[in-house]
Amino acid sequence: MQILLTRDQIAVEVSRIGRQITQEFDGQSVVLIGVLKGACIFLSDLARQISLNATFDFIAVRSYGSGQESSGEVQLVKDVTTSLRDRNVIIVEDILDTGYTLTFLKKLFMAHQPRSLKVAALLDKSSRRAVPINADYVGFIIPDKFVVGYGLDFDERYRNLPDICIVPAIQQP
Ligand code: IMP
Ligand code: MG
Repeated sequence: MQILLTRDQIAVEVSRIGRQITQEFDGQSVVLIGVLKGACIFLSDLARQISLNATFDFIAVRSYGSGQESSGEVQLVKDVTTSLRDRNVIIVEDILDTGYTLTFLKKLFMAHQPRSLKVAALLDKSSRRAVPINADYVGFIIPDKFVVGYGLDFDERYRNLPDICIVPAIQQP
């Protein structure tokens, strides 16, 4: 598979986002909420670049649609287990595509009345957006290609690839 982003390029951006979060929340604590399963590797690396009092939680969602395409109908599979009231919450996502998932998550978390709510997305396929929503911290804006690796899957495979690769067109979902 063709490499789109190498592990070194990813590490540079993850560390930049970590520094930015560290500066913006200086003297405060943050709750990192990873969106399972794709964001688990990004969260693991990002968390180690944040020099703040940080805790983790995880959420899982499912979106219905044809193939890998989000339909706009997002369903909660696993909720968070910690209290988010008055906390600085940062949603950690692998990739922002149509924006339906993030729109659902932001609405869900706002109901918890956090002190602040931010979004860190490693990848942003901005040309694919169907609803107007953006991340506060973005690693890379990428073209409209299906990518795998560094947590991202194609049919649950390839999450363990250290680089982010483009799935060949004949295999594209
Ligand atoms: P959205 O609701 O369309 O923004 O969907 C975002 C979700 O779609 C991500 O969390 C991924 O699970 C999945 N996704 C979108 N594009 C890709 C891709 O290129 N590779 C792997 N998963 C993707
Ligand atoms: Mg995902």
